[in-house]
Parts: sequence; C-alpha cells; structure tokens
Amino acid sequence: MNLFKNSNCEDLFRAINSLYLTVITDEKGKITYISEDYLDILDIEDDVVGKYIEDVIPNTKIPEVLESKVETIGDIFTLKNGKDVICNRILIRDDNNKITGLISTATFQDLYKVEILNKKIEKLKEENLKYKKEIEKLKESNSGLDKIIGSSNIINNLKNKIQKISKSPISILITGETGTGKEVFANAIHSLSDRSDKKFVKINCAAIPKELIESELFGYAPGSFSGALKNGKIGKFEYANGGTILLDELGEMPIALQSKLLRVLEEREIERIGDNKTIPLDVRILCSTNRDLKEMVENGKFREDLYYRINVIELNIPPLNKRLEDIELLINYFIEKYNNIYGLGIVGIDKKIVEELKKYNWPGNVRELENAVKGACVIKASGILEYEDFEIFNRDLSSESDNVVNVASEYFSLEDIKEEVEKKYITKVLLKTGGNKSHAAKILDIDRTYLYTKLKKYNIKI
Ligand SMILES: Nc1ncnc2c1ncn2[C@@H]1O[C@H](COP(=O)(O)OP(=O)(O)OP(=O)(O)O)[C@@H](O)[C@H]1O
Ligand SMILES: [Mg+2]
Repeated sequence: MNLFKNSNCEDLFRAINSLYLTVITDEKGKITYISEDYLDILDIEDDVVGKYIEDVIPNTKIPEVLESKVETIGDIFTLKNGKDVICNRILIRDDNNKITGLISTATFQDLYKVEILNKKIEKLKEENLKYKKEIEKLKESNSGLDKIIGSSNIINNLKNKIQKISKSPISILITGETGTGKEVFANAIHSLSDRSDKKFVKINCAAIPKELIESELFGYAPGSFSGALKNGKIGKFEYANGGTILLDELGEMPIALQSKLLRVLEEREIERIGDNKTIPLDVRILCSTNRDLKEMVENGKFREDLYYRINVIELNIPPLNKRLEDIELLINYFIEKYNNIYGLGIVGIDKKIVEELKKYNWPGNVRELENAVKGACVIKASGILEYEDFEIFNRDLSSESDNVVNVASEYFSLEDIKEEVEKKYITKVLLKTGGNKSHAAKILDIDRTYLYTKLKKYNIKI
C-alpha cells in the first residue's frame, strides 16, 4: 500500500508531525512538504516548498538517498543548530514501484529514548561485570573448599564450619597433628573470606631463628641495629595489611614476643623496631600449631592471655587414622596430582592396597600419605599402583647411610659424603616421623630451627 499516493493525507501528516520533524520531496529532491516544527528548528520563515532540499538544508543526505535508492533508518544527523536527531529517509513509490519522492522523518524523542537505552545498556553492562566478578569470586572461594579433599563427617563438618566463620574477621586457631592439613584449611579460610583478593602472608615461627622473629614480624626502622638493612625493613604484619596473616607453628614463638603479639592483637596497630610511629593494622590473624597450647600454658611456656585471645574459634583437624574413609579419595587425588605434575600414566590403585593402607597408623597424616603415593607413582610411572610400589611397606632406616657410602668412591670429598649422608638421613628420619619436624629434630638431637636450616639447604620438602 502506498500511503502517499493521494495528496490529501492531512491526518496522517498531522500524526507524523506530532512525532517527527518531517520533510517530503519529489524524486528530484524538491521540497513538496516541510513541517512547521522543522522550519522553526531550521530558523526559516520563508516558504521553501518547491526549493531543492540541499538549498535549504545544505548538509542533507536526501539527494544521496534519491540517487542511490538506499533508504536510511536510524541515521544520526546533526542539524545546523548543532543538535543531533535520529533520521529515517524512506523512498515513496507509485503503483509501478517507480520512485516519486522521499519522506524524511527526524526525531529528538527517539534520540532521547536511545540515550535512555544506552544508559540502561551501560547499567546492564556494569551489573554484568559485577556478576562476573561475583562468579569469579565464588569460583575462587569454592576452589578454596575444593582443595580440601575428604568426605568423612568430620571433614564435612569442618568445611561447613569454615564456610560460616571465614567471612568474619575473628582470629582462628587451627590445631592438629603434623601433616593433617592445617595449612590447607588456612588457605581455604582466606579464599572464602572477603579478603581473598588481598595478600595472604604466612610466617613459620619455628623456621626463623628466635632472635629474628621480631624483626620479621614487625619490621624495623633504618639503622635500628647493627647489621640492619640501610633502608629498614617492612615486617610481615605490615606487608599483610588489609589481608590475612598465618602465624604457623605459633607454639614455637618465644614467650617475650608473645606479649608483643598480644598487644598487636588488642590495639590493632604496630610499630617497627626502632620507630615510634604507629601503623594501624587491619589484618585477619590465623594461627596454627601442632603443639598442645593448653598444656604449654599450664607449663608456663605459652601466655594464657594470648592463648585465650587467639583461641576465639578453634579448628581441630583430626589425624588421618580417625578418618579412614578419606584415604581412598586422597589417594586418587594425589595420583591425579602427580600424574599431572610428572606427566605419568597411573590409572588407579589396587583396592586391596587401599585396605592395607587404611591399617597403617599414618603418624605423618595426609603429608605422609601424599609422599607415599607420590613415591609409588614415580616408581610405577604407569598402570595400577601395587603393593611393591609402596616403599612404606618395606622401609628400613638403618641401611640408608650404608647405601650412600657404598655408592661413594674416592673421588668424593669427605665433606660431600658427609652432606650426602646428612641429607639422606634427615630425609629418612622425616619420612619415618611422617614429616613431624619436632619429632625428627628430637631423634636427630638438633634444634628445630637448625633442622629447618638443613631442610632449606638440601631442599628437602617433606
Ligand atoms: N584434606 C586435604 N586435601 C588435600 N591435601 C591435603 C589435605 N590435607 C593435607 N593435604 C596435603 O598434605 C600436605 C600437608 O598439609 P599441611 O601442610 O596443610 O599440613 P599441616 O597440618 O600444616 O602440617 P605441619 O604441622 O607439619 O605444618 C600438603 O601437601 C597438603 O597439600
Ligand atoms: Mg603447617
């Protein structure tokens, strides 16, 4: 249907005019109609009907459309007063489809709507981004829980508990025997917290010589003691500001420093050594220990007030032999882990071995299990893990130093041999104690800090 076949389309024009700035031309571009509003906006008082459109609106695109016969819809056109309008230019055809003219309708109203739509789109984009971030955060926080392998009731309860308490800033004391996964839980708590995108700083109080713990934790001002760095040093607390700090093996913290720690926890500010400027502190504090702090309090080795201050919530991770149903899950997880790390092709484990492994006491807990599976995977490389792949079933500590000496020849210096024996023997003792450093240090009759120095030197990670 051709709406403009007849010239008496007054009603239609009026309707269009109420919505749009309208101009109609013939096929040559001569104006046959122009709305009052359009004339007003163009600031034209003369009668322009019969004039060529480009003489009235110099930058018009109407001649182009008539020439190319390509209509434009939603074109943004700038009027001579500098205002933008949305413009549709539609060709008018007769019954034989011959072009007889063109109608151009322009509107601010649409532009306004477009602006609103744009704003809505921008808002949606912002929301979309916000949700994407939330999803990322959720994924991350899930990954915190996902890294805790285990589906025993006891582990599930602990997972539920940390989901509830991670968001609050309260201190948490994580206790449990060596290798039970205290650090794994600490990582999960940080990932589940609102601070997950901030720093997570860990400090092992047993690995740092006692006289250095204070400067490690609190930092020091330039030139505060001989041997200090020229520019001073930022402490771990300050470094962790805004995030989370894990005071690992807290039971090893010297009693003198315990009072300083208590002050920090209470006043929520620190001072670098040799500096009296206080630095406000916003750090979530997690502590972990495999020592019985309560007993240490009774023996006067740990400050009672500090104990109660950090022990607002205690997470006790049970030993592995109290959650045997997790063993199979953990084994499969470690097989997958070491397949990926070492590019191995272990496809599983003989079910009978799993049952055997459940009978073992696991003094080194999950760490010991992980090392046993790792060793078996590396030995086997592919296929199913079997009894003979587990060194744990035929470990003999005494023969180790002999082995090293047998391998050695006169081409090795005595120092090299001593180091090799030392490294192997420490490794063996640690395997025997299931990674328990205190126990190993006792067997080796050395200080724990000294043991840590050796572990670092020989790169022993058990
Ligand atoms: N539930 C678990 N899921 C997966 N891996 C675990 C789990 N528990 C422990 N592990 C693994 O066992 C090893 C020891 O765990 P972690 O370091 O957390 O123990 P810990 O309790 O902090 O030991 P320590 O008292 O000796 O410091 C790590 O390699 C860790 O990844
Ligand atoms: Mg630990």
